[in-house]
Amino acid sequence: MLQLRDGQAPATAIYRADYEAPAWWIDTVDLTFDLDPAKTRVLSKMRVRRNPEVPAQALRLDGDELNLARVMVNGGGTSFKMDGDQLVLENLPEGNEPVELEIFTTCAPIKNTKLMGLYVSEDTFFTQCEAEGFRRITYFLDRPDVMAMYTVTLRASKAQYPVLLSNGNLVESGDLEDGRHFAKWVDPHKKPSYLFALVAGNLVAREQKIKSRAGRDHLLQVFVRPGDLEKTEHAMNSLMHSVAWDEARFGLSLDLDRFMIVATSDFNMGAMENKGLNIFNTKYVLASQATATDTDYANIESVVGHEYFHNWTGDRVTCRDWFQLSLKEGLTVFRDQEFSMDMAGTASARAVKRIDDVRVLRTVQFPEDAGPMAHPVRPDSYIEINNFYTVTIYEKGAEVVRMQHNLVGREGFAKGMKLYFERHDGQAVTCDDFSQAIADANSGSPLAQHLQQFRRWYSQAGTPVLKAVGQYDADARTYTLTLSQSCAPTVGQAEKLPFVIPVQMGLLTASGQPIALQLQGEDAAQAVASRMLVLTEAEQRFVFSNVSEAPVPSLLRSFSAPVVLEHEFSDADLLTLLAHDSDPFNQWEASQRLGLRYALKAIAASGEASAEILPADFIEAMRRVLRDDKLDAAFKDLVLTLPSESYIAEQLAEVDPQRVHAVREAMILQLASALQPEWENIWEANRDTGAYRPDHVSAGRRALAGRALSMLCLQAARTGDTVWPGKAYQRCKDAGNMTDRMAALSALVYSASPLAEQALQRFHALFKQDALVLDKWFALQAAASDRGGDVLPAVKALMKHADFQIKNPNRARSLIFSYCNNAGAFHRADAAGYVFWADRVIEIDGINPQVASRLARVMDRWKKLTEPYRSAARQAIERVAARPNLSNDVREVITRALA
Ligand code: PHE
Ligand code: ZN
Repeated sequence: MLQLRDGQAPATAIYRADYEAPAWWIDTVDLTFDLDPAKTRVLSKMRVRRNPEVPAQALRLDGDELNLARVMVNGGGTSFKMDGDQLVLENLPEGNEPVELEIFTTCAPIKNTKLMGLYVSEDTFFTQCEAEGFRRITYFLDRPDVMAMYTVTLRASKAQYPVLLSNGNLVESGDLEDGRHFAKWVDPHKKPSYLFALVAGNLVAREQKIKSRAGRDHLLQVFVRPGDLEKTEHAMNSLMHSVAWDEARFGLSLDLDRFMIVATSDFNMGAMENKGLNIFNTKYVLASQATATDTDYANIESVVGHEYFHNWTGDRVTCRDWFQLSLKEGLTVFRDQEFSMDMAGTASARAVKRIDDVRVLRTVQFPEDAGPMAHPVRPDSYIEINNFYTVTIYEKGAEVVRMQHNLVGREGFAKGMKLYFERHDGQAVTCDDFSQAIADANSGSPLAQHLQQFRRWYSQAGTPVLKAVGQYDADARTYTLTLSQSCAPTVGQAEKLPFVIPVQMGLLTASGQPIALQLQGEDAAQAVASRMLVLTEAEQRFVFSNVSEAPVPSLLRSFSAPVVLEHEFSDADLLTLLAHDSDPFNQWEASQRLGLRYALKAIAASGEASAEILPADFIEAMRRVLRDDKLDAAFKDLVLTLPSESYIAEQLAEVDPQRVHAVREAMILQLASALQPEWENIWEANRDTGAYRPDHVSAGRRALAGRALSMLCLQAARTGDTVWPGKAYQRCKDAGNMTDRMAALSALVYSASPLAEQALQRFHALFKQDALVLDKWFALQAAASDRGGDVLPAVKALMKHADFQIKNPNRARSLIFSYCNNAGAFHRADAAGYVFWADRVIEIDGINPQVASRLARVMDRWKKLTEPYRSAARQAIERVAARPNLSNDVREVITRALA
């Protein structure tokens, strides 16, 4: 028998193939809110009409945890019934005339711990409607293809909620009786319900007037709690840069008089693109040099950009249904990545950003694509849509857009975007509509030639493997490159058809000189040093002429496709690429391949992890990188970062997480000791970056200095030296910015220095008023290197700390998620980590299913674990599965994990 949850209908899957246009349209909606934390009253007046293209049907409105007080039709009473959570109106007037509907409901924002719909955070009202939160505010056709014009009146106590905000323009405001006041907002653009927002509370704003290229005046506002105003400068600058960038790069201007950002400390995700009223997690708004790191500054710029860019890619043109989520998310991530690159400036800075993005893709998305939650960029079914805000939809989706960009060129892509908006402005459309517009604007391009096949990137899940075999013929002076592709089966997709794979490539001589690329049959005069091959078959050969020596191939430059590249590079080939490739991405990639190779060898070897895993020539190559004056500090830092434990684990059929951890730690120690003089020089040369600015160059120097300090403290822990830990401790005390302070604190914690405890205490005392800094403090301790199983007890003790609150998503993530992602501390032979995980999933599910379900996914790859981990993991997952009242969110993840 199916388990019934909370007396509701059992969860069923929803299929993309079942899409039907709505039977009714909602043209206008007029909402009046009487805001009260315990009981907020919502009056909704809608003008609805039948969709003439669909056979006549009852009007079925979605609702969730609402109290229904009254329904009226055209000013009079009406009959209605409830079908599960839906309000069904069967007797509406026939014909195509509009019908006036009035629905009066109440809800309890203060009890809303799911943070979906209308909720209260620190005495302020916020809404979150994507994907299906609007139905928790009022009965509605809560689907993205129903777009309406909104008028919103907010009424609340003036003393408690002096600021009343909603989408669009403020048209009226004033006082009411009993100390209450009101504000009326009209949104000039029609929108789907998931883009509705309101905010009410005691807030202050940083304001900026700007004139767009088009000559229009706009008011930009960033709202925060009183006291946080001085931390909004960077967010405002990022917003101004975003506005200018979208005009310059894509000709897309701000279409509103007023654009608002509001920050809240209780938020499930990063931020939300509600039309004209973006709501942000404080983490992506608030920054000062004393409290935020360089990474925070960069994230703020990119998230502010992301939400702003949604104003066109998401809000003006939205998704037909939630299966098309990547239409807006993949495209908008691509746009924010390009924005960050353009802001960073230099070619090297662009490459660093690209490397960062690819690292996320490979360490998080590749495992997702190989695990139980694997799904296509455009999924075919889901149980809980909230589970599909994934790295596949976002990051792989962005790669799929990037490939289209690269297949038509930068200019061609801009033309394609223009056509996309000409065709679809104001509509709710599909991923196919997008690729069609890009292809149609670029007839003759490889994308247009292979459009149907290219679309397999949207429909087929899994990471393709691209195999490259090179053969040099000295007599004929030809080099034959054979490219072949395959893709492992994923859930529900046994057979995969070939993808269109753009392979940007070049050839180098053994000494690192570029070789001109002349494909057989081409003119020597056309030869170039880098070109794109387009693989469309399962296997294809490319023959290059006039090749004077056996070349080293540089393949998949800039990571031109989201695939796993297999090629039998010799160590010497990789050292050549690391030293000489003109493509910085592949220079870095060579270092990663070498690191991975040595790690895998050491993992496979028997006995204790040896202290000498890295060979001398690799160490020397790293030394040269650190000493090279021409290389950017940020780039050096990335080259010296070994592949992550999760990336290494993905390469193994069976994973012993403790072995992976021990081997990687041994490699780090080896780099620490073998390169000690270089680390000392690096520290001296980069420890002082002058007056704080979060620019690319100085941030890179701080990152590298931080790594040096960490390496020096590690080495000190081994030799018993106290000088470097002493310097780190001093730095914790007198650092002029949070980046340097955090780096020093983490060097002490990571090296298990006896000074760590004292430094942590000082840090806490200094920042106990600042929630975002406390998050870092919790996270750092949960991510500490495990020494004899000491991290879990520390985490359990921290859960009892006065500053720990499990209901706050940021805080729960900082402690619990950080611990569960700390492989060396989490995968314990006594299974205590898994027991802790199961307990927390169950506990958080009772509070906030979305957060719980993200935590549940920590176990995605449990089937790859060796014993005793595997059996213990299964037991923990089964214990969660056995709970009768799990949310759909957690149930879907757990069911898939056990399948
Ligand atoms: N649409 C938001 C974004 O990517 C993410 C989000 C999804 C926020 C669901 C809240 C809820 O910008
Ligand atoms: Zn987004």
